[in-house]
Amino acid sequence: MKVLVTGGAGFIGSHLMRYLLENGYDAVALDNLTVGSRENLLPDMELIEADVLSDRLTGIVAQGRYDAIVHLAAQTMVNTSMDMPRFDAEQNIAGTINVMEAARDANVERVILASTAAAYGDVLETELPIKETHKRAPMSFYGLSKSVAEQYLDMYHKSFGIDYIVLRFANVYGERQGNGGEGGVISIFCNALAGGNDITIFGDGEQTRDFIYAGDIASGIAASLSAKPKAANVAYNLSTQTETSLRELVSVLGNIKGSPIIPKYGPERPGDIYKSMLSNGRAKRGLGWRPMMPLEEGLRRTYEYFKGITD
Ligand SMILES: NC(=O)c1ccc[n+]([C@@H]2O[C@H](COP(=O)([O-])OP(=O)(O)OC[C@H]3O[C@@H](n4cnc5c(N)ncnc54)[C@H](O)[C@@H]3O)[C@@H](O)[C@H]2O)c1
Repeated sequence: MKVLVTGGAGFIGSHLMRYLLENGYDAVALDNLTVGSRENLLPDMELIEADVLSDRLTGIVAQGRYDAIVHLAAQTMVNTSMDMPRFDAEQNIAGTINVMEAARDANVERVILASTAAAYGDVLETELPIKETHKRAPMSFYGLSKSVAEQYLDMYHKSFGIDYIVLRFANVYGERQGNGGEGGVISIFCNALAGGNDITIFGDGEQTRDFIYAGDIASGIAASLSAKPKAANVAYNLSTQTETSLRELVSVLGNIKGSPIIPKYGPERPGDIYKSMLSNGRAKRGLGWRPMMPLEEGLRRTYEYFKGITD
């Protein structure tokens, strides 16, 4: 199967490109390199340097004769979306429409969209883990633009028959993650610790997240590419369905580092969600997928990656 991965030179894209090529897919990355880089990919991986908003996209997709597109390219930062809602909408909504137009023009069979837990917004603790059927009430323009992009895929399916799968990722971590964007607490902590610096927890440290290793996201995307049509045209959460508090995270990082870590504490940040966890039952049943990476091993790989680049 030939697959175009938009945002393929970014953090998750770099894991997906490795996974697809190791598993026999013919994968090509497309990236405008504003955040991603050629170095995130291995030398023999094919990279098309282009913007998803470009008029060239239709020609690129038609020429490549792709069976599927995985659309990861996006504006990924909540803060940026609040500062520049129009920019966020152009990248995440108009960018997705341009991808869908190219898919329509070239008869691409399936498009996979990277969406996010932020599409749900703030959810009561009693409603965790969040199921895909939970109402979407985003609290940021980023969550809103992703949620709207999801609806565009559904409309393209109903109007033009292009199959889609929406994947709402929990907090993704792993090697090559940048310090901005979503779910960056692990990369921020690992980067600081690898450089011998202190880490700061904002709030009491009992806030939780559902941390999932990027390699598990890659296998979930691959499962979506090969899923039967009856499993398509719906949204799936990709998550571990496990809550980990920031205190627990720091304790595991201490084990990895070989010495206890004493974090600093700062004031709670306004707007931060306290507890977060996504249900993954639908993905297990519908895609035959499950996350495989234990947190400690995933953190070890991430820490060693940051140690490697700071040494
Ligand atoms: N990292 C997470 O925890 C997380 C959680 C939920 C959803 N997501 C989603 O997963 C996807 C990938 O995220 P990531 O963490 O790898 O981020 P990333 O910033 O590392 O990757 C995004 C890539 O897209 C590229 N890009 C941005 N705008 C582009 C454009 N207009 N044209 C072409 N390329 C463009 C960037 O250069 C970058 O390489 C995004 O859609 C993001 O919203 C990520």
